[in-house]
Amino acid sequence: MKRIVILISGRGSNMCSILDAIAAGELPANVAAVIANRPEAAGLETARARGIPVRLVDHRHYADRAAFDAALAETIDAFAPDLVVLAGFMRILTSDFVQRYRGRMLNIHPSLLPLFTGLHTHRRALEAGVRVHGCTVHFVTPELDHGPIVIQAAVPVLDGDDEPALASRVLAQEHVIYPLAIRWFVEGRLHLLDGKVKLDLPQDERAAL
Ligand code: GAR
Repeated sequence: MKRIVILISGRGSNMCSILDAIAAGELPANVAAVIANRPEAAGLETARARGIPVRLVDHRHYADRAAFDAALAETIDAFAPDLVVLAGFMRILTSDFVQRYRGRMLNIHPSLLPLFTGLHTHRRALEAGVRVHGCTVHFVTPELDHGPIVIQAAVPVLDGDDEPALASRVLAQEHVIYPLAIRWFVEGRLHLLDGKVKLDLPQDERAAL
């Protein structure tokens, strides 16, 4: 069984969707650990309650990004994961760190990339007046929110939407596409080859997307 380590900074609802998919027998993976960079990350307690080993690497205890990333990598590597899953992990990572996990680190971002990289994506989508918004799973590369795209889900922007309404419509889709992308990876059907996504899906599964 492939091993994954999940990195969080907050509530951890994407982490829960992954744990739920595993519990439902839909995702053949073992969550070796959940690691947070903030002690107040609510997802830490959720993971602990579900019997997952948890670790805290508090970025405030390190002099700079390089020192934090080195400690984070050491903590991750102790669990020897096949895949590192960023699930609401709100730290910019150094290029060295990203290179270390090249082709085996995924992120979920709450917009249809390449639109709305960075923060406050739902507010910015509403301000821009887009009629379609969504979320993206991508491989992590050194440039923030620019890695090769694995899967996206789109949602409509409805008249009268505010930020929370739009955010929760997008989040529901995040909880669908992230476990799916992770399943492809742990089943050996998703690879990063020469900087491009390679996805081997049977015709019927591809058609259902
Ligand atoms: C999610 O919406 C995720 O896409 C976003 O943070 C939220 C975390 O929620 N990630 C980013 O913005 C990364 N740049 P969660 O803790 O409930 O999974």
